[in-house]
Amino acid sequence: MHDLVLEGRVLRDAFPIEAYIFIDGGRISKISRQAPVSGEYGELHRLGRSLLLPGIIDTHAHFRDPGMTSKEDFASGSVSAAFGGVTTVIDMPNTRPPTIDRDSLQAKDKTASAVSVIDYGLNLVITNGSDLLAVDTLLKGIGNVPAPAGLKAFLGETTGSLVLEPISSLARWTSVLENTGAVVAIHAEDGSLFEPVKDPDKVKDILKKHHGSRPPSSEASAIVKAVNALGRNAGSAHFLHVSSEMGLEAAKTSSATVEVTPHHLLLDVKLSGLDPEHQALGKVNPPLRTPADRAALWRGIADGSVDTIGSDHAPHLLEEKDRGYLSPSGIPGIETMAPLLLSEVSKRRLDIDRFMELCCSSPADRYSIAGRGRLEDGYLADIMVVDLRKGRKIRGDDLHSKCGWTPYEGKVGIFPEKVYSRGELLIEGENLCGKPGRGRNIRM
Ligand code: DOR
Ligand code: ZN
Repeated sequence: MHDLVLEGRVLRDAFPIEAYIFIDGGRISKISRQAPVSGEYGELHRLGRSLLLPGIIDTHAHFRDPGMTSKEDFASGSVSAAFGGVTTVIDMPNTRPPTIDRDSLQAKDKTASAVSVIDYGLNLVITNGSDLLAVDTLLKGIGNVPAPAGLKAFLGETTGSLVLEPISSLARWTSVLENTGAVVAIHAEDGSLFEPVKDPDKVKDILKKHHGSRPPSSEASAIVKAVNALGRNAGSAHFLHVSSEMGLEAAKTSSATVEVTPHHLLLDVKLSGLDPEHQALGKVNPPLRTPADRAALWRGIADGSVDTIGSDHAPHLLEEKDRGYLSPSGIPGIETMAPLLLSEVSKRRLDIDRFMELCCSSPADRYSIAGRGRLEDGYLADIMVVDLRKGRKIRGDDLHSKCGWTPYEGKVGIFPEKVYSRGELLIEGENLCGKPGRGRNIRM
């Protein structure tokens, strides 16, 4: 007797085949072409010709909880994620207070476990003042609090002001990284190469100015310095939101891994897709780049030099984004990430197998998240159901983030029809079926 059977299409060597996914105790027990006989299952969900894909693992979200919960909180952020097919999220530590030690990690875990509708991990920030031994202990899961999913280092100034400097001081962390096998997620921008902007309140060409003031050379420089500092542990580094051709070239020559974001793939300083009147909506760190940089990131996706895609969901309120060049940096995007990428799949710009690697299996492998990111026997039944023929226009009003806007207004996204998390129906069309607090820490 199986708890649940899903009838739909699964991909085998990028080819859809009709199949049945048998689910028991939240895990996939088998995937078979053979229909179950009646009496062999508790429930059967017939999903027609829709594709059954693994749930998205987004290893880069800023849920703003605690401290900036008017922009987002763990409840709203996790719901927004779920509607975008994300079944596991890693939250970033630049909250107020930051997730920096045992107490702040435990407090954030308490909030998340009480309200999150999806499973989650929490990154811990490392700064100049960090206590190495305490971080080592937390990473080993000692101390009555679930271990951090990974570490985060901000090498350049951005929301939260948690810069680790000089970049060479990353070298202090090599033995912690070696002892624990932890990933250090790196925001790579070298502040010594930033060009200050004069009269920021008068800037008109916001995106070009921002790109010039935090140039690709600052990204490449931070990557080179970080790789040098980490030495033989450079493979512990996961360079986040690599935005430029120079940055990607610098990362390629190392054993580190690379994340890119949907916004650096789909938007640029030439305002492709962005309303010229509201350029500040596209202000983000690292900045949106040129069409040539965007093309280089797509080439990196095709040739394997990009390892993961993360949303870098960084919501700010519209009234904060109404201050021209003085607006805070950050773009919301956890709910639109998979829908926009699936649109690219339907346009044949992205292979569906590559999509699943970048958004599901590689994030799981990179952060050692066991039993997730693939549809295989024994894996958790985190599944999104999509019909690649059914796109719809993205509208900020339809999304579930507290911030209420998107830079992708009017673009077409392919949203999941249903989402299952550990075999439980979480999303069905417009309806949220999962209860707040059902989400679990992946390090439990
Ligand atoms: O633009 C950004 N916004 N870049 C970051 O690194 C942080 C993020 C935020 O938290 O707002
Ligand atoms: Zn970020």
